[in-house]
Amino acid sequence: MKRAATSAMLALACTSALAAAAGDAIVTTRQASMKEMAAAAKTIAGMFDGKLAYDAVAFKAAAKTLRARTGPALIAEFPSTTLGAPSGAKPEIEYARPEFEALARHIGTLSGVLAAKAERAPAGITDDMRMGSGLVMGGGSLLGKRSGAAEADPAKLPAEHLLHLILQDCSSCHSKFRQKVE
Ligand code: HEC
Repeated sequence: MKRAATSAMLALACTSALAAAAGDAIVTTRQASMKEMAAAAKTIAGMFDGKLAYDAVAFKAAAKTLRARTGPALIAEFPSTTLGAPSGAKPEIEYARPEFEALARHIGTLSGVLAAKAERAPAGITDDMRMGSGLVMGGGSLLGKRSGAAEADPAKLPAEHLLHLILQDCSSCHSKFRQKVE
């Protein structure tokens, strides 16, 4: 009797330990995925800022990384059981799913457009890839009213502008859904 109870308890403990281990693996994976996105965004930003030599192949690879790790893939990385400390994901994600997922999809759409543009990227950086080129910007501020209209069709935006909008989504999500953990 006593033994049965003990083994039942042991089985229970093992199950929750397994669940915890699975959760840990998801957290580790998503943090690695976020780091890859950060490296990819840094690579593209560096090329536009002139800190890195422009390289069409590296641009393409980085844009593909962003596309692969945003949208549905990003959403799938945050199951309910893995939120809160010790991870950097706020428990609030659970109560604000529509907003969290809208952000993930928005950055996914922009990254998809950027990746499609990168697919056809020329061997050298061209003016029409730069921010401020094209009619859509027209000298309006990035955060001004114009960006809303331009976003209606992100395919019309220069690559550099797309990158800036992508980076805004990283920040929007972090300020709302990421927490500092010691
Ligand atoms: C829809 C929300 C969302 C978007 C969009 C998003 N992140 Fe995150 N990011 C998070 C959350 C939540 C965490 C905390 C994850 C954890 O610790 O489990 C995080 C963590 C990180 C980390 C820390 C990873 C670590 O090692 O702990 C980096 C770096 C990062 N994000 C970079 C980026 C970059 C760069 C982008 C944009 C290209 C981006 N993120 C877009 C939600 C988001």
